[in-house]
Amino acid sequence: MKVTRISDRVHYIGVNDRTKHIFEALWPIPYGVSYNSYLITGSEKSAIVDGVEADYALRQIEHIDNLSGGRKPDYLIINHMEPDHSGAIRMLRAAYPDMTIVGNAQTIAMIKGFYGVDTNMLTVKDGDTLSLGEDTTLRFNLTPMVHWPETMMTYIEEEATLFAGDAFGCFGALNGAVLDTDMNTDHYFPEMLRYYSNIVGKYGQFVQRAIKKFEGVTIKTVCPTHGPVWRSRIKEVVDLYDKLSRYEPLYNGVTIVYGSMYGNTETMAETAAEALAEAGIRDISIHNASMTDLSYIISDIFRHRGLIIASPTYSDSLFPPIRNVMEAIVMRGVKNREIMMVGSCTWAQQAVKVMSGYLESLKAVCVTEPVLIKQAPTSEQLEQCREAATALARKLTTAEG
Ligand code: FEO
Repeated sequence: MKVTRISDRVHYIGVNDRTKHIFEALWPIPYGVSYNSYLITGSEKSAIVDGVEADYALRQIEHIDNLSGGRKPDYLIINHMEPDHSGAIRMLRAAYPDMTIVGNAQTIAMIKGFYGVDTNMLTVKDGDTLSLGEDTTLRFNLTPMVHWPETMMTYIEEEATLFAGDAFGCFGALNGAVLDTDMNTDHYFPEMLRYYSNIVGKYGQFVQRAIKKFEGVTIKTVCPTHGPVWRSRIKEVVDLYDKLSRYEPLYNGVTIVYGSMYGNTETMAETAAEALAEAGIRDISIHNASMTDLSYIISDIFRHRGLIIASPTYSDSLFPPIRNVMEAIVMRGVKNREIMMVGSCTWAQQAVKVMSGYLESLKAVCVTEPVLIKQAPTSEQLEQCREAATALARKLTTAEG
């Protein structure tokens, strides 16, 4: 049995990208990424669901031709227009000139805008259906802003398979198998957290709407545009997306993010971590914001209920790597966190003022007063840091109980 067979009518025709280092020119992908695409073959017609990135178009066309035995696909359904999926459109159209491209009104406008393609298009609305024969009916469900305005999901009614676009996707190329039942998928979950928190994280309310839209609908297989096809772990994947999109932390742990030019703020971060550990917190991540890629910091902030941010003053403002972190938190509207701040300076205490402004815009309240140091920390200031971290730990363990 070929591992690319998902059901009698659905086959995988996607590709793996193990060349790109930085996805969206922003996010490192040390394990690569897959651009998933599917061929649905009904008794009368066939349809491709989503394309791949432009560089991989010929490989996708090879997959289609190998599977279809010379039969040309009748439709190309576009669930999502970001070019990691739509880049192949012009080449697919050239290979299959009679193929109709299917999308909603926003999709159709984007296809023209990105690729100048505007002929032989079929515009669908929420709830519309398309028959591929008496055995295969596709229903289109508009799910805007997950995470672009045109995003939609396509559902095969006869076998309860959902083509979900980026939703329920993750970083990480596929290593042979496609279905979760054919592989160990454990290592995809941290990359799902990093994918969600960085790329989709701002749009939690829209992910919630999409999840609610499918309440009561039987879903036996989820085919996302990145990562494994989910069949045995659908509940875990949907629960993870559900929790993250409600900004609910996954663990009562703490992420400590610090900037430090000469080690004094770092000493405060290490001191806070020791106090947390002594108070019983077992899941602590420490990131030097100058060294750790932002995507891993954001991922941990989504993971943990506790957050300690420690920053020096720099040019009478906030240390730039910490500013990046604060802006990323505010952009994503992160909430439901227990927060502590540490500010340091040599002559003017500005960092905490700027950080407080960011937190106010999120309506976030710190567990304790900020801990401030000037030049090197004194033993009293180290003790204040320990006490503040212990108070944060108490908040977390109380929440646990
Ligand atoms: Fe995988 Fe939003 O593109």
